[in-house]
Amino acid sequence: MQIKNICCIGAGYVGGPTMAVIALKCPDIKVTVVDLNIERIAAWNGPLENLPVYEPGLAQVVEKTRGRNLFFSTEVDKAIDDAEMIFMAVNTPTKTEGEGAGMAADLRYVEACAKNIARVAKTDKIVIEKSTLPVRTAEKIKEILDRDGNGVHFEILSNPEFLAEGTAIQDLFKSDRVLIGGDETKTGKKAVQALVDIYLKWIPKEKIITTNVWSSELAKLASNAMLAQRISSINSLSALCEKTGADIEELSLAIGMDSRIGPKFLKASVGFGGSCFQKDILNLVYLSRYYGLDEVAEYWHQVIKINNYQKTRFSKKILEELHGELKENKIIILGWGFKANTNDSRESPSIFVASYLLQRGAILSIYDPLVKKERILSDLKKELKKVKLSNYQIIKLFNNLEILKNYKSSIHKSKAIVIMTEYNSFKNHDWKLISKSSKVIDGRNLLKNYNYSIGKPNA
Ligand code: UDX
Ligand code: UDX
Repeated sequence: MQIKNICCIGAGYVGGPTMAVIALKCPDIKVTVVDLNIERIAAWNGPLENLPVYEPGLAQVVEKTRGRNLFFSTEVDKAIDDAEMIFMAVNTPTKTEGEGAGMAADLRYVEACAKNIARVAKTDKIVIEKSTLPVRTAEKIKEILDRDGNGVHFEILSNPEFLAEGTAIQDLFKSDRVLIGGDETKTGKKAVQALVDIYLKWIPKEKIITTNVWSSELAKLASNAMLAQRISSINSLSALCEKTGADIEELSLAIGMDSRIGPKFLKASVGFGGSCFQKDILNLVYLSRYYGLDEVAEYWHQVIKINNYQKTRFSKKILEELHGELKENKIIILGWGFKANTNDSRESPSIFVASYLLQRGAILSIYDPLVKKERILSDLKKELKKVKLSNYQIIKLFNNLEILKNYKSSIHKSKAIVIMTEYNSFKNHDWKLISKSSKVIDGRNLLKNYNYSIGKPNA
């Protein structure tokens, strides 16, 4: 089957970059990305330096494709109607209420999407799950599509995205693998082939794996859980290093050189953030419990618990370093994104650390090269609301808060410099020249640096 028109619902961190790359590599296919959020679409259609998602290399891809065969629009129904293939890349946050609150994925948006597709579609469609979803969601989507549809045929595929933010474009260009799950039926196989043909335009054949839908859905959750597990493992050992005098970086090096283990994702940190790891693991935990596998659930839950432990442990370290004297001491937080090179701050450890310090009376300055001031303030507000602070209390705490456009001029006024994101520009500073009186408390890839940088930046 020759695909001529693709529609993607959800113009976020996944939908935007993925569709831009498909449009670049398949100039014969018209790709339309739609979103309910009018401002977001306007930003995608606006100046290249102000796209809603920051990713190295993304603006160049959009520049080449936008208006050629890549379009951003709020006309959801029209785009669905025109397309033979529809990607669903809407968000699937952790549920905040109802059954499974705090654990299960909220499928509200996915379901709304499916209903909309069912209502609008007048011709057969291939519907692709791009969002990370609990296993067997495809079944539910199919049910909605067939129940609410106009008698047309829907084929559901799972094609989870493995891109990491900050390297999305490179990840899309050179994927380790592309995973496509589909039904074993004749129409299922045809749909899988149609999607394989698209990826074949730039991905070598041997890197495209096809599986059944359930394996594909579960593989995404499992991949993220395994990656996050490595971080929690190394972070748990960082605590032991500090007690024993072992050096966490040396430990990472020694462990990672075992080719069975490998060096990646073994950097100790303040904890992992991002929209996926926590959500997907909680999802896996929920799923395991649902099937009565309590031991399995508990095993994976521990990955989250260590992550929370690490964030708290790091925050307490800062307090200790300042001998609990927060009120007169200004602290600078460097880095708000959950990692370098992204303007995304979802689940960023900085949010936890800053809110912990603010609640204890700290005077804070925050700097990030990509995250906007409004975003930082709304992240903090949400976090402080979680611990049940009132609007009045939050406004009062915000009097102790400053968001910096430039941090260098403020450094010497601060008592502690807390490095949260692993930007080289933060790490490679010659702190000696900048501040003699402040303590550099380095949290990323660096619990090692505790030994020499905490309290002794000049050593
Ligand atoms: C999302 C999911 O969070 C993740 O689980 C999945 O793996 C990929 O898709 P992301 O692209 O980072 O990740 O989410 P986000 O940046 O929030 O984008 C989702 C977009 O969908 C938003 O712009 C939202 O406005 C849009 N949306 C949501 C719709 O257009 N319609 C809806 O009904 C719901
Ligand atoms: C992740 C997966 O890598 C990707 O395959 C999936 O599609 C989505 O989820 P992402 O969340 O964008 O991608 O970022 P990732 O690079 O995985 O980093 C997640 C968090 O782990 C960050 O906060 C990062 O700083 C932290 N991290 C990463 C560590 O603390 N130590 C490491 O060694 C690596």
